[in-house]
Amino acid sequence: MTTSRPSGRQFPADFLWGSATASYQIEGAAAEDGRGPSIWDTFSATPGKVLNGDTGAVAIDHYHRTAEDVALMKAHGLHAYRFSIAWPRIQPTGSGAVNQKGLDFYSRLVDQLVEAGIDPVVTLYHWDLPQALEDAGGWPARDTAYRFADYAAVVAEALGDRVKIWTTLNEPWCSAYLGYASGVHAPGRENHADSLAAVHHLNLAHGLGGRAVREIVGAETQLSITLNLHVTRAASTSPEDIDAKRRIDGLANGVFLGPLLDGAYPADVLADTAEITDWSFVRDGDLETINTGIDVLGVNYYSTGMVRKSQTPRVPGDGTPGPDGHKSSPLSPWPGTDDIEWMAMPGPHTAMGWNIDPEGLTELLLDLHAAYPGLPLAITENGAAFDDEVTPDGRVHDERRVSYLHDHIDAVGVAMDKGVDVRGYFVWSLFDNFEWAYGYDRRFGIVRVDYDTLERTRKDSSYWYAELVRTGAIPSVESAPELG
Ligand code: FCB
Repeated sequence: MTTSRPSGRQFPADFLWGSATASYQIEGAAAEDGRGPSIWDTFSATPGKVLNGDTGAVAIDHYHRTAEDVALMKAHGLHAYRFSIAWPRIQPTGSGAVNQKGLDFYSRLVDQLVEAGIDPVVTLYHWDLPQALEDAGGWPARDTAYRFADYAAVVAEALGDRVKIWTTLNEPWCSAYLGYASGVHAPGRENHADSLAAVHHLNLAHGLGGRAVREIVGAETQLSITLNLHVTRAASTSPEDIDAKRRIDGLANGVFLGPLLDGAYPADVLADTAEITDWSFVRDGDLETINTGIDVLGVNYYSTGMVRKSQTPRVPGDGTPGPDGHKSSPLSPWPGTDDIEWMAMPGPHTAMGWNIDPEGLTELLLDLHAAYPGLPLAITENGAAFDDEVTPDGRVHDERRVSYLHDHIDAVGVAMDKGVDVRGYFVWSLFDNFEWAYGYDRRFGIVRVDYDTLERTRKDSSYWYAELVRTGAIPSVESAPELG
């Protein structure tokens, strides 16, 4: 097995080691105990939207297996578990009536975690919007942000006595642009103006929902949001290519970091998108609400990208994966950038076609630290899909995943050595699961799931990660006791 970095780096004793999942990707039980339909139920049931017609109706049946799954977390020695709440379990139509059975499910899960000595880290929204709210306009509609705040308050009332770390949204970039611009994620709409309205209403939802959580949970609240900030490089030093990178940075990062941490949308993004929207959906007071302050910023990181000013008009995509790492689509996920071209990235690549670039993670953390000194960060997702094989002894020797994790965790340590305040790391994902538009075809888990029997099997990466959690030092890629 090869890695490009040394092993053995020691992390601070109070560093939080965890793993992450999301409700629609693991729970199943889609029509049970009063859960209402979400946009992902509708989208995945629509032919042609998800690879192989896969849906999350059963997923890995976590809904019925929390005891077994929490025991597995305990076997890894995890300090924390990041999971998301399915809004349509709590409010089947997204507003009004609360479904007690939905709350009870998460309350039991939180009890099981606390009992196992694992800190629950709750994400309120990881993409499963109640279908009724989409029917009423979805994220392009302002009202959705207020409905989110009501929902956040309901969950905080029920779990706030035991849960202190609260993440409002996971990757609003995906919700807005993949959901409403390119349409490769639910709800599958294609409209650039709507996607920018969705950006703002997601930001507003964070502000309104975050305030609601703080009011209920009190001074101990650790409020966060998780962003998939993009590390994008210019293909050359030409002014045109550098400007292409600037525009992508604005749409990818600036539209979220600006209102959240600076209290304003970057002026260049407003100018770049002026032909698409006048941003009149931003009302007086919104920016103040969004800039409510966070205690920690969640960072999801997988790979890097490169852009240049295109010489030729954009060719509408046909659903095959594009060089920006997402399925190609008739409309670009990046509003107003049809003159920007995404370059194929040099390998190695994961099964997602994403390039492996641990330096990008160090760079991202250093950039954040420079722009927002003193802001605590946590890596809330990082991991890799590979085509795992089960060997005759029933094991999964996923050495490429071990090596990916080894190098990326070291890259976090490099940034910490340079003064970046990183508080924790959550591997994506604990289990193989429903990987959105790619269905069950892409496996990210450190624990394998057999989709016929739903049996869980620890991969080599799971033993390796448990060793890291036990010692706080990065094990060599061959060294976990059960490997081999
Ligand atoms: C992120 C999502 C997560 C998972 C990983 C691979 O964009 O937040 O649910 O699908 O990618």
